[in-house]
Amino acid sequence: MTTSIATAKKHLDKTGFLDIDLDPEMDFVAEINRLKKEKNAIILAHYYQESEIQDIADYIGDSLGLSQQAESTDADIIVFAGVHFMAETAKILSPHKKVLLPDLKAGCSLADSCPAPLFKKFKERYPDHMVVSYINCTADLKTMTDICCTSTNAVHVIESIPKDTGIIFAPDRNLGAYLQKKTGRDLVLWNGTCMVHEIFSAEKITKLKERHPEAKLIAHPECEAHLLEQADFIGSTSGLLRYSQESEANIFIVATEVGIIHQMELKSPNKTFIPAPPNNTCACNECPHMKRNTMEKLYTCMEYELPEIILSDEVIRDGRACIDRMLEISAAAGL
Ligand code: 13P
Ligand code: SF4
Repeated sequence: MTTSIATAKKHLDKTGFLDIDLDPEMDFVAEINRLKKEKNAIILAHYYQESEIQDIADYIGDSLGLSQQAESTDADIIVFAGVHFMAETAKILSPHKKVLLPDLKAGCSLADSCPAPLFKKFKERYPDHMVVSYINCTADLKTMTDICCTSTNAVHVIESIPKDTGIIFAPDRNLGAYLQKKTGRDLVLWNGTCMVHEIFSAEKITKLKERHPEAKLIAHPECEAHLLEQADFIGSTSGLLRYSQESEANIFIVATEVGIIHQMELKSPNKTFIPAPPNNTCACNECPHMKRNTMEKLYTCMEYELPEIILSDEVIRDGRACIDRMLEISAAAGL
């Protein structure tokens, strides 16, 4: 039995995506490329997306690069192959464009760890503090934020704030702890984490390093402090990619979501990239939220222009200032 588009639309809230039966013979690459042209749509993809989605994207990048692209694109439709908070950020930056997310349930454990009503109460305990929020948070949280940041610009953002001003940092306690160490600032941390970056086993990584003494351990700052202490390089996804290209080393142990390895291998085909092992036997170093997006869902969302990101005018207005401030600081730093 085939599911009609009308039925699929009716169930969109429950499913998160348009669950319709598609022709099993469909050439998704050809169809998606056709829709891009016909609709003047741009596909922005994060490095943690499936390789085939990365390969069809117009731009692949980290959270900062994706936001910069979302702000500056001439396209009429932004198709965000990433997670919900990223698509919301794109909508805040380009409110008059249609922003599509292939699966509305592509969330983020880190963003979910900081519900806006709870954060509001937390913030009230520090009335003189400024709020710096990692971009991995909801649009509602952004409305309570003074400056947003990504892992690429977080140090610059913290350093832009006068030394005598207290700072609340939310929601990632690992990135927060890393920033405290890097900047020497005393930050009030929200206790949130990313389920993917917390899963790496320091013990297994130590063993891997013994087996490959020439390998460089490269890690995302969302990882726990004990892992970051062992790392040869710490950076955002695009920072890790750049380091892997520029480094003299030939073997890398990569402590972030495995999706980034696709670009690392494309850019440095003669180098070896070993995913940092998780502390169990599951594929937990894959982000289940990012991986909800598939080529099928990408196609249906472009064809039917659903699911779409809708935000209230108030959220767009109040959420914008902290992102604009982040983009200004990044531009001044040449990022
Ligand atoms: P960046 O790509 O900005 O380093 O962020 C990684 C991430 O947490 C994506 O969810
Ligand atoms: Fe969120 Fe972590 Fe997934 Fe990034 S990898 S989207 S921070 S859960």
